[in-house]
Amino acid sequence: MQPTKIMQNDKKQIRIQPAIRLLVLSFIGIAFGLVFVQGSHAQEVPQGDPVEGGKLYDNWYNALDQDPPEGNHPLWRRQEDNPLTGPKTWRCQECHGWDYKGVDGAYGEGDHFTGFSGVQGVIGNSNEDIRAWLDGTRDANHNFAPYINNTALDDLVAFLRTKQVDMALMIDYDSRTALGDKENGEVLYLETCVSCHGEDGKRRNFATAINPVYLGDVAWQDPWRTVHKIRFGHPASNMPASENLGWTLQEVADVLAFMQTLPTARPPIDPTQESTRAMAIRLEEQGEIIPVIYATVAIMLIILASAGISALRKSK
Ligand code: HEC
Ligand code: HEC
Repeated sequence: MQPTKIMQNDKKQIRIQPAIRLLVLSFIGIAFGLVFVQGSHAQEVPQGDPVEGGKLYDNWYNALDQDPPEGNHPLWRRQEDNPLTGPKTWRCQECHGWDYKGVDGAYGEGDHFTGFSGVQGVIGNSNEDIRAWLDGTRDANHNFAPYINNTALDDLVAFLRTKQVDMALMIDYDSRTALGDKENGEVLYLETCVSCHGEDGKRRNFATAINPVYLGDVAWQDPWRTVHKIRFGHPASNMPASENLGWTLQEVADVLAFMQTLPTARPPIDPTQESTRAMAIRLEEQGEIIPVIYATVAIMLIILASAGISALRKSK
């Protein structure tokens, strides 16, 4: 009886040892993986100020306090639907959209339709790759280097790489309704916006005295524009950028929801899809790509390590 028991124990020990070895090796693999990811990521730290970049995306010649170039942007010839001419044809936003989705987003229909693509395809691309789009390397007709200084180009690249979000998580595209909590939005609005825009959002008129446009109007007419303005501020003004205040995207959606309760000068757009308001999405979670990369690398290394070990064991 006794000897067999000892033998069984020995067998168990023999079986446990490779498992421990595999675990240790996996941990070493993960550690190497993390160092590798950290290293390659460190080279790619955005060089510019992404919040300044957001203002430039809105209107670079106002943000830089420059005169806009003469005539239409050279690429404007490639479309016939959008009737605008002159300076506005030079704004990134006019071609690529306030939601960064171009023809696949809010500018897929209506007055601003051009058919031009969005810029979401470059999220996370290298500094060099994105810059090549702005200095004429990729397309001589898409060259902004003669007009936009080096620092500002870096800012734009940083914005394009790191600050684009999916606005479908904040706005219901069909009804234009904000997917936020208006009660919390009111608290934030009274803290941060009321001093310049007034309790009713009417202190500033964004159009003419005869045909006024107030904050409540903007929030309904163009919620995508409103989100971009809240996050990055208004170019060449002292309006704060929520991205600098440390707000989450949920908080931006909350303020937008409150702004949609403010009085309007024009008849408000009727929100038909009430049900979409119920969508409770934790907006902060988007854009968290790095942890996903870490996890993927770790899993791949574990698989590699175990494959290696079983190969070793077979060869023995
Ligand atoms: C007159 C319209 C127009 C304006 C203004 C414009 N773009 Fe573009 N952009 C385009 C078009 C059209 C393309 C598609 C590529 C091509 O055919 O050259 C493009 C491509 C891009 C791309 C590559 C997108 C991808 O997915 O590969 C980026 C990035 C970009 N533009 C950023 C900007 C930025 C930043 C600005 C403002 C400084 C800007 N664009 C202004 C029309 C415009
Ligand atoms: C320090 C003053 C100040 C504060 C605080 C401020 N804004 Fe503004 N805001 C401005 C100025 C100035 C403009 C440009 C107005 C103009 O064109 O007359 C502007 C423009 C805007 C626009 C763009 C309107 C358009 O479509 O052109 C929106 C939207 C807006 N503000 C929302 C907000 C919200 C929401 C807050 C609070 C989170 C806020 N602002 C806080 C000063 C301020």
